[in-house]
Amino acid sequence: MRSCPVMPVIVIDDLETAVPLARALVAGGIKVLEVTLRTPVALAAVKAIAESVPEAIVGVGTVVRPEQFAEAKAAGAVFAVTPGLTPKLAAAAREAGIPLLPGVMTPSEVIAALEEGFDALKLFPAEQAGSYGMLKALGGPLPQALFCPTGGVTVESAPKLLALPNVGCVGGSWLCPKDLVAAGDWAGITAIAREAAALGK
Ligand code: 3PG
Repeated sequence: MRSCPVMPVIVIDDLETAVPLARALVAGGIKVLEVTLRTPVALAAVKAIAESVPEAIVGVGTVVRPEQFAEAKAAGAVFAVTPGLTPKLAAAAREAGIPLLPGVMTPSEVIAALEEGFDALKLFPAEQAGSYGMLKALGGPLPQALFCPTGGVTVESAPKLLALPNVGCVGGSWLCPKDLVAAGDWAGITAIAREAAALGK
């Protein structure tokens, strides 16, 4: 969360695009990459990026089943992100030995995640959860939790979120527009990544 102000939420439809897309993001200064396990080629994409783009810190997102942690680690993922947290997922992440950024949306879920030993959390879906106002409110009673708000975050809304002391980074899919990826416009992706990396923290 401290390595980049923005973590791209990546959906790989075509395996051939995984490595050039990762290279384009890294070239723009975005090296922490969340590849979502939403497509059949996702794990193969993680493997390809881990092997071919050593500067990237590649992890998996959209983990919803316990066995996916070990599969992701075997593919080369060095972290995992979930949209929510259950005791089973927490145990499986620990067992697999993969760092986890678990999703939370309410104060009770933050407390439950802290009880499980996680203090770096993804606020998801951030926009629907109240985004800036919610994060500011959570920072009062629960300042020990550091958040990566994701869901509805834009390049315009990110700076205000990043200025909060309990926000470590933000996540978003805006860094990888489907039309640019389909067109192989890697320079375009690098330009978007550069703008995101410059947001700082
Ligand atoms: C997702 O699950 O797709 C992420 O939360 C990204 O959301 P976004 O497309 O609103 O950035």
